[in-house]
Amino acid sequence: MGDAQTGLILSQIAQAGTEVAAIASARLRGFGRKNDADQAAVDAMRRSFQTAPFSGKVVIGEGEIDEAPMLYIGEELGAGGVKADIAVDPLEGTKLCANDAPNAMTVVALARAGDLLHAPDMYMDKLAIGPGYPAGLIDLDASPTENVTRLAKAKGVPVSAIRACLLDRDRHQHIIEELRRAGAGIRLISDGDVAGVFWTTEVARSGVDIYFGSGGAPEGVLAAAAIRCAGGQMQARLKPENEQEAERARKMGRDVNAKLMLEDMVKGDVVFAASGVTDGSMFEGVRFTDHHATVETLVWDSFTGRKSRVRSEYPL
Ligand code: FBP
Repeated sequence: MGDAQTGLILSQIAQAGTEVAAIASARLRGFGRKNDADQAAVDAMRRSFQTAPFSGKVVIGEGEIDEAPMLYIGEELGAGGVKADIAVDPLEGTKLCANDAPNAMTVVALARAGDLLHAPDMYMDKLAIGPGYPAGLIDLDASPTENVTRLAKAKGVPVSAIRACLLDRDRHQHIIEELRRAGAGIRLISDGDVAGVFWTTEVARSGVDIYFGSGGAPEGVLAAAAIRCAGGQMQARLKPENEQEAERARKMGRDVNAKLMLEDMVKGDVVFAASGVTDGSMFEGVRFTDHHATVETLVWDSFTGRKSRVRSEYPL
């Protein structure tokens, strides 16, 4: 199958999956039940993928079979067709959804089989910038000061005009303090680092130039898909919290000390799709009327280079 056809089919499958998951979880916005909202998204997305015209396999997602009964790593989905890897976060920002706070979304990346990083659901260190910079500008092993200084120089602005985004976590305090000393601006977010990384691809709109810090590995691979579509740069490293996690990663063929380049996370072309659950900076959340649910989705397809924002209406 040609690239354009693969991109089109995977885009449609990804969009359908994120949209039904967004509608299902949006019904539970604001009720403080993050696990129920997540489960609703998982069930809806899984049903959608089960009948979709592809042969998909979850390579990174909700967890392993013993801890995640659905959309677990290794789960095979689809009614047959192009062989594809699935990276999935059926509800990104479960707490955001439970609190009806901005930027809860449903997210999927689809690529040809073997093209997405296969790893357990654990923490990952992340560093990302958007497109338009010389290759190799950022380096996960360089200090935050070095990275923002290089970025400022490449952008032709003072460091004070660079804005970094991080999850507001104690574990990031040392990075935050260092960035403040360097003079960079900082946006701290409570949750949702897929959006945090994504923002670097639309600096003019988001104001975020660079993303730092650790968060979920599935979110990392999903964000890497968006960065790959944008032509940006990203590096990461798995961050097992104990020997058991490290062993699980090794069993999946991962070297936990390796610095992962963008190509290690997303080898070839990829489709990134995300739908808004709550209102946010990337899109509007789901709207319900008596008879319809309206959902906004961003689909980015590096097979063809197409990036679309779509509003779809579903009968209820
Ligand atoms: P969930 O949707 O699974 O709750 O994840 C939200 C999130 O903020 C992710 O965006 C991020 O990668 C991760 O949690 C960070 O984990 P932690 O809250 O443990 O720092």
